[in-house]
Amino acid sequence: MCGIVGYIGYREAQPILVDSLEKLEYRGYDSCGIALCGSTMILRKDVGRITELEKRLSRCEAHRGIGHIRWATHGKPSQANAHPHLDCTGKIAVVHNGVIINFQQLREQLTAEGHHFYSDTDTEVIPHLIEKYYSGDLEQAVYHTIADLVGSFAFAVLHEENDVLIVARKESPLVIGIGDKESFIASDVSALLNHTSRVIYLEENDFAVITGNGVRVVNQRHKVWRKEREIPWSVESAQKGGYEHFMLKEIYEQPTVVQNALREYLSLSGNGLNIDMIKNARTRGVLLLACGTSYYATLLGKQLLEKIAKVPVWAEVASEFNYSEMVSERFLAVAVSQSGETSDTVKALKKAKSMGCMTLAITNVLESSISRVADQTLYTRAGPEIGVAATKSFTAQLMALYWLALSSSAVEMQICQSLLQEMRLLPDKIQQILDNAERIIPCSQLLAQFEHVFFVSRGLNFPIALEGALKMKEISYIHAEGYAAGETKHGTFALLTPKTPVIAITSPDNTYDVLLTNLREMKARDVPLITIASENDQEIDKFADEVIRIPDVNPLFSPLLNTVVVQLLAYYTARERGCSIDMPRNLAKSVTVE
Ligand code: G6P
Repeated sequence: MCGIVGYIGYREAQPILVDSLEKLEYRGYDSCGIALCGSTMILRKDVGRITELEKRLSRCEAHRGIGHIRWATHGKPSQANAHPHLDCTGKIAVVHNGVIINFQQLREQLTAEGHHFYSDTDTEVIPHLIEKYYSGDLEQAVYHTIADLVGSFAFAVLHEENDVLIVARKESPLVIGIGDKESFIASDVSALLNHTSRVIYLEENDFAVITGNGVRVVNQRHKVWRKEREIPWSVESAQKGGYEHFMLKEIYEQPTVVQNALREYLSLSGNGLNIDMIKNARTRGVLLLACGTSYYATLLGKQLLEKIAKVPVWAEVASEFNYSEMVSERFLAVAVSQSGETSDTVKALKKAKSMGCMTLAITNVLESSISRVADQTLYTRAGPEIGVAATKSFTAQLMALYWLALSSSAVEMQICQSLLQEMRLLPDKIQQILDNAERIIPCSQLLAQFEHVFFVSRGLNFPIALEGALKMKEISYIHAEGYAAGETKHGTFALLTPKTPVIAITSPDNTYDVLLTNLREMKARDVPLITIASENDQEIDKFADEVIRIPDVNPLFSPLLNTVVVQLLAYYTARERGCSIDMPRNLAKSVTVE
């Protein structure tokens, strides 16, 4: 979704802004722009990619500027709607993330006062309000402006007469990069990795005045101190490193992700987390809240917690929970989010907290919004994930949920230890799948020819069927549905033909026999049948058209291996169809609007 960058210092701002915007491209966007301030304000913006805009930029010596990528919410993608937006004098430029709820009312007032608007955006009221309140003191003008705004925002202001950048945040993240005689701003740290590793994360309702020599942060009109931190990610971690796509790189990073998680969790001390909080939850129940891929992680988490920890669990789509009447004050509420910024998930966690729930965040991003809301945070530490379609972050979430289940386990310590022993073998088993990834390509070549596919499974692997279907539709644009195999006869069977391939995830657990019965019924409708099965499974060969093998594993952990297969299946299918794998159309990495 939208991304903000900014620079002030001694170097030419333009190439730095362009580089930083390119680093935010992964968030998903439809238009982009920059404003540069030397002696006068220069504005360049348009629909399309940054590389296209860059071709039209002439050299500019300005040493301060702001930039933006836009994912349209108010008004279609167009040059007029792209950020930055200017006031009437053309001296004030603003870039903004978030939603100004009362923009219509403000716009009407400002229009009546003589202001002219050129876009359909909510953002454009901000530079006009600053213009209205400006009488030589930019800080005061921005204060007054903020007081008029209802909604969420992270915005940056550039003013022709003031050699500063002013930023403010409410509910949308903003980070300031500290350099040597230069400062940077960005929506997330990925944009800063090339320039500095020293950052300050702004907190709720912070307002900052930034120069090349430092930052002054103010909250409620009082100067406040914000700790400087080191970015935990390396520059290389956010580069493709020789892979054709970020998604493929991130799929291949999964043995390391699992290894790191094991190192962190194996002692069962996990991140210094207060396990008692989870153990207490046993009597109350756990409420899991998430969106998208993270929601599918919670569906497996629910089964694990119920099976291993014997805790009653509810897994809710955050956007639905937010408008439900669910009473939950006696639960431990766990919000799961890669970015930690998904608007619906943040809102759901706040709702659960306001009801009196204890709260835990499981997230991949330090200092993200859900970690600020939650009482405690479990970081998944998968490293930066650039591909829009989540892969390694999902596996890392699963590892966190396995750990949560095992650490609050009602299972005997001895059994628990032997399960942990088996988990130690997982990185090698995932590596074996990756080493044989080429064997999956023929199945993807087959799938690439169809427009509809079904992913089916049962039990622990049902969430992986849902995730497989999501991956497939996200990046290959094939209509894919995940189904509990037992449910297919209640409707889906009407669609089964030789033109609807079925991908079945099997596991030698208590669901195996009944799943095979379901698959035989489907095969009798002539569907092309691809199965994912254990290397020891001989039975499946008798009727599946294609079998993708995974190493033998305790069925409890089979979802971790099957995940890698469905990711590769989707990846190669999308590649076969020539799709934009890392940035699928219309999708955003972090969905910061409801
Ligand atoms: C977007 C992303 C998905 C992600 C979902 C939830 O839709 O494209 O990959 O699963 O948001 O994101 P979160 O950051 O909360 O896990």
